[in-house]
Amino acid sequence: MPAVVIANTGDVPEFEGKITFNVIVCVLIAACGGLMFGYDIGVSGGVTAMDDFLKKFFYEVWERKQHAHENNYCKYDNQKLQLFTSSLYVAALIASFIASKTCSKYGRKPTMQLASIFFIIGVALTTFAVNIEMLIFGRLHLGLGVGFANQAVPLFLSELAPAKIRGALNISFQLFITIGILIANVVNYAVGKIHPYGFRISLGIAGVPALMLCLGSLAIHETPTSLIERKKVEEGRAVLKKIRGVDNVDREYDSIVHACEVASQITQPYHKLMKRESRPPLVIAIVMQVFQQFTGINAIMFYAPVLFQTVGFGSDAALLSSVITGLVNVLSTFVSVVLVDRVGRRALLLEACVQMFITQCIIGGILMKDLKITGNLPSGDALVVVIMVCVFVAGFAWSWGPLGWLIPSETFPLETRTAGFSFAVSSNMLCTFVIAQAFLSMLCHLRSGIFFFFAAWIVVMGLFALFLLPETKGVPVDEMVDRVWKQHWFWKRFFNDEQAVEKRETEMIRPHLI
Ligand code: BGC
Repeated sequence: MPAVVIANTGDVPEFEGKITFNVIVCVLIAACGGLMFGYDIGVSGGVTAMDDFLKKFFYEVWERKQHAHENNYCKYDNQKLQLFTSSLYVAALIASFIASKTCSKYGRKPTMQLASIFFIIGVALTTFAVNIEMLIFGRLHLGLGVGFANQAVPLFLSELAPAKIRGALNISFQLFITIGILIANVVNYAVGKIHPYGFRISLGIAGVPALMLCLGSLAIHETPTSLIERKKVEEGRAVLKKIRGVDNVDREYDSIVHACEVASQITQPYHKLMKRESRPPLVIAIVMQVFQQFTGINAIMFYAPVLFQTVGFGSDAALLSSVITGLVNVLSTFVSVVLVDRVGRRALLLEACVQMFITQCIIGGILMKDLKITGNLPSGDALVVVIMVCVFVAGFAWSWGPLGWLIPSETFPLETRTAGFSFAVSSNMLCTFVIAQAFLSMLCHLRSGIFFFFAAWIVVMGLFALFLLPETKGVPVDEMVDRVWKQHWFWKRFFNDEQAVEKRETEMIRPHLI
């Protein structure tokens, strides 16, 4: 997911420069990073629903599925099967911390190359896996790739993008993720009938964006910021000229040098991040990620085909339904691109909470009423479930999906931005892991209650957005502290320390003076 994206949503300094071929190539490379991640989100649920895959690696699950009439909700409940999906996120969690170091020390480009190499190894291992160990080992490599790429690619993107399109590029990365998910859904649907190795094709196609990223990254430049940060100032200026397509880049160059100087004065950003005044953006960054995952989105993204089979669809219809939800996800992300700077973040988040709450309750209600432990859901009901899933996904895709990343990227001051954002990335990976590992077991034990569980979380996040989330629309990134945090009824108390201490000291001294 996006990391260290320096979003510019307010007044953006106008530097000279065009949208050059170079920048376009970079966007395409970044697209590969997003596609790579999205494809992996989408592919696991599809292959999990394929019998050939289950027979080969999870025979007991396949056998249980044959007796599905004995228990609808529990046919996929298997820790190892969930580990197949979730293992990727543990590796990504660890990699994201290492990647923030490699990004600063060696640059964005080598970090992306490293990501693609891990990814290619992971694709090879999963595609040709002969046993479950090799499969999981492969997923761990994919996770390392995702962790490295998600830290480096968005940072690379935001540093190379001309300032005026930086904000839009932030959400574009999410758009590419959703396109990756959709492609995975389509591939799963297309190869589902190719026996017995259709699932291997699904797993193997993940190599395409990884290979493109690997080869593409040989052809691109390191970012000027990274070069200047690592004292290669002349090279940095030369690259800046090339990517902007103009000779006079002095103002932008000076601003990068200045930003690097300011950032270099903070030698321990993590230490600074633990200070009281860093708490508001840090809490928001972490909480936005936790809430994003506890909407239940990945229960749908990972396990939609499985879920649709649970409500009574055949394997084919289930895969097709996932294609539909994938398409809704992509299209609705455009809504966010268009609306986020017009209606603001809070309006989108709050509206989506209502929409997601209602849909989760309807899905839960239908399953509670009509999907007994054995037997199928009436076909009308199953259709309503698919429609409700689409409405749910739409709400997520124009709100908590992109904004879960955008808000943490725009609320930290420069000196703690990188460190702060790595907390957002790792919180996301951790919560994604938890959902991936627990959802099928929760479905088995809570049955329809799982949807009410997510609905309850949505109420909590709605209240949080209502009372504690400040609006950041149109506020320049570097004015957040004064214009947002210090004005907020709750968060302002975190900034009054110095004044309060001074006041207390004066009050203590005054009696003696009198
Ligand atoms: C989330 C992913 C999710 C995706 C769905 C992203 O913002 O971080 O976990 O699968 O959206 O589109």
